[in-house]
Amino acid sequence: MLKEALINVCIVLVVLLGLTGCGKRETETLTLAVGGAPAELDFWEELIAAFSVQEGITVNMVRHPTDTDQRRQSLVTSMKSRETDPDVFLMDVAWVGQFAASNWLEPLDSLLAASQEGIEPFFERVVKEADTYEGRIVALPMYIDGGMLYYRTDLLEKYGFDQPPETWEQLVSYAKTVVPEERKGNRSFSGFVWQGAQYEGLMCTFLEFAASNQGGIVLEDGRISVDTPANVTAARFMHDLIHKHKISPPSTYTEMKEEEVRIFFQRGNALFERNWPYAWRLHQAENSEVKGKVGIAPLPHFEGGESASALGGWHIGISRFSNRKKDARRLVGYLTSKAVQKKVVLELGWNPGRKDVYRDPEVLERFPHFTKLEKVFTNAVARPNVPYYSYLSQTLQSHLNAALAGRESPQEALAKSEKEMQATVNRYSKVN
Ligand code: GLC
Repeated sequence: MLKEALINVCIVLVVLLGLTGCGKRETETLTLAVGGAPAELDFWEELIAAFSVQEGITVNMVRHPTDTDQRRQSLVTSMKSRETDPDVFLMDVAWVGQFAASNWLEPLDSLLAASQEGIEPFFERVVKEADTYEGRIVALPMYIDGGMLYYRTDLLEKYGFDQPPETWEQLVSYAKTVVPEERKGNRSFSGFVWQGAQYEGLMCTFLEFAASNQGGIVLEDGRISVDTPANVTAARFMHDLIHKHKISPPSTYTEMKEEEVRIFFQRGNALFERNWPYAWRLHQAENSEVKGKVGIAPLPHFEGGESASALGGWHIGISRFSNRKKDARRLVGYLTSKAVQKKVVLELGWNPGRKDVYRDPEVLERFPHFTKLEKVFTNAVARPNVPYYSYLSQTLQSHLNAALAGRESPQEALAKSEKEMQATVNRYSKVN
């Protein structure tokens, strides 16, 4: 009797605990948030499944889009409400600083100490500048990005150009030769597609045009400078590509983000494309209309300037609010291991955050253009690394986009941006 009563009490307790969630502090599954093109995310699912089998840890993968602003928004919402998942996520280099300063990231010291390799295999400059906060490492580079010029090798050959353009002026002149002819058979054909929609990608393209004209965004000693003659010329050129030279479609400023640009080019509708290294593998896929017809080169520059790429990339970190930090560390260790980083390169063409993968003979054989990328990354131009960067970016994005749409002159857009960005700097410098 007593035994039966005890069993009943136990059953009631188990049911109650189950209903209230008490006594069960850990969630069952580790959650990883990662973004990319759909085909890329399918490959990530495979990577994660292999980890689950190997380690006996179940991982739920949350599929994010490619758009960095949407990804940031979704993570900020989880962090602000101190949700326990996602436990592990990828962060854009542009906002690691914000996450670190908000104290949302779990330091990775014990993971690095346990791995014995420490940070040695990773790009030192990147880890130091992007992943270190108050002397502690809070993230690791999963992959590095730099803007590149993609071009149609078949069309350059058809119209007698023996190499890709080195200056922006040349790019315009090539496109003006090719576009009218190609449009006869394809009304959608354009000269040059690039990211001009109002989002973070526009910051990267602007930085590239500006830096290739010896301009840029300078934030020093509490003063921000964007309203300079070199930058105005760059912004005017971006506007002119659409409205004066008419070699970039009007959709550039309404909808062109990474994936829109990639798909436009991949359908055979453009001569030139500005995109990140990830586009290479997708252009070579079986279903790509430009398979075998694509070349890759450093971005052009203005006369008297030098080619410049924006420094992009995604870094992996662990949420401070995760309640499965030990398993989370194992997942980060796995994803940043040489074996997995090599798989990511071979399958996706993403550029690893580990230096040792670049020296791998199999990687070099499959991706001979990696030798060119080395130069691109060495000279890559970083965005200001301050915790309030996203506010600076939102201001500049909106004025630049207005300039591309013709609602503000390039001069006016940069003058207004500088004024508003300076107010942001003043506000946050006081706080710090
Ligand atoms: C890529 C880059 C990232 C950049 C973004 C802009 O994802 O890696 O750094 O902010 O594009 O759209």
